[in-house]
Amino acid sequence: MEIFAGIDVGTTSVKGIGVDRYGKILFSYSKELSLQTPRPGWAQQNPEDWWSAVVEVLKDLCQDKRRLSAVSISGQMHSLVALDEHSKPVYPAILWCDQRTEKQCKELTEGLGGELSVINSFGNPILTGFTLPKLLWLKENEPELFSKIRKWLLPKDYIVKRLTGRSTIDYSDASGTSALSIGGTFLASALELCGIKASANPELVDSGTIAGYISGEILPILEGVPVVVGGADNAAAAFGCGVERPGDVMVSLGTSGTVVAVTKTPVPDPEGRIHLFRHVSPDSFYHMAVILSATNSLNWFKDRFASDLHFAEVERLVAASPAGSIGVIFLPYLNGERTPHRDPNARGTLVGVSSFHSRGDVLRSIYEGVVFALREGTELISDLGTEISSVRIVGGGSRSKSWCQMIADNLGREVWLPGVDEGAAYGTARLAASALGFSSDSWITLESKFSPDLRRKQIYDEVFDIYKDLYRSLKNDFRRLGELQNRIVE
Ligand code: XUL
Repeated sequence: MEIFAGIDVGTTSVKGIGVDRYGKILFSYSKELSLQTPRPGWAQQNPEDWWSAVVEVLKDLCQDKRRLSAVSISGQMHSLVALDEHSKPVYPAILWCDQRTEKQCKELTEGLGGELSVINSFGNPILTGFTLPKLLWLKENEPELFSKIRKWLLPKDYIVKRLTGRSTIDYSDASGTSALSIGGTFLASALELCGIKASANPELVDSGTIAGYISGEILPILEGVPVVVGGADNAAAAFGCGVERPGDVMVSLGTSGTVVAVTKTPVPDPEGRIHLFRHVSPDSFYHMAVILSATNSLNWFKDRFASDLHFAEVERLVAASPAGSIGVIFLPYLNGERTPHRDPNARGTLVGVSSFHSRGDVLRSIYEGVVFALREGTELISDLGTEISSVRIVGGGSRSKSWCQMIADNLGREVWLPGVDEGAAYGTARLAASALGFSSDSWITLESKFSPDLRRKQIYDEVFDIYKDLYRSLKNDFRRLGELQNRIVE
């Protein structure tokens, strides 16, 4: 029997699943990872920890002498692994959520002719989370270590390298580095600004390419098993729920929230509010909105102010409050915001509360605020020319019927829960299957649907208008408050 292994190197864990040729998940394992934050705004991991976790997960997948047919790896986007001549990391991996590179982003943007020119070259502005500014940060702050760099990779590619010896990167991950042009080649001028030679670049390959075969020295039981290059976690997750044709959209309600919309028109947002990245299929692109606090908003509120409530009670209270939360609005910017505002100083805000309001109204406003933030991203994506044809909801928050219904009502269209919601690991297992010539189209099934209620949509339209105005009104105050908060915390 064929078993396709999909492994996702995430931020909080490495997850591995074994899937049969019909898409059935046979087993699933995960190992937790820890995050180092040596300074405020920094986020690092030890690549050796990813490796140990992947080896553990592979061993689990091979229990009882199960023979894997292929192993494919996906992973966190943007995070930098810089290797020396012995392929050892010269510095801990600097992660996608690390914020230390504001100065380097400005320098690179200026060096490349300003923001519009950067957006036209890469499809995105250069953001603190992306890879290239991290290389420049190392050059400016750790010059001795920087001089030892012989190769730069992303997390999944580091694992592929350990398994096969080959340094590759696929287009979906490369498009999130600020080093790949929209046309799909590394931009020498950008890398030169960071002092990176072409020989340090990984080899660009399509997702689904067999990079090599596992050597028996690493894991005797896996000797000779093909290792397939997966994709960026967001792209792999979208592929994992069948979001692959132009117009297909995935809304993910995880700790953070994303809208991934496959597009026929890979035009960048000239204002840099929405990302444009490559998908896992050749020459396919998607627009993406990322909000930093989706289920995190609810979890934060519940932990601090409603820890006595179980999830079922939260759902009951939310369902009992009417659409629009009787005029309470929540801005879900607890950790600043990525899209569309690109504002690290934005803050969570509750507006319109009176002594009349109940805890249910406030809880409902938190659900709604997250949906408004995702709706804002979705509308901007539509403005860029993508006609949405289908929407699938995934992630922990999709277990809430109320949340799914709010998304349907706000987008004014049907939204679906997929039959399998296993994130990037399932998408990368699909890539493993196709690398060995097996079609995985039948793996994609839909489970249930939510239809929009047009009366509620009217109410939401009105509240959403006020929601959008609130950020504009508060932007300057957020900056002043942010400065004040930083002063107090430091
Ligand atoms: C996407 C992003 C995150 C990481 C998480 O731009 O920064 O979603 O991919 O792993």
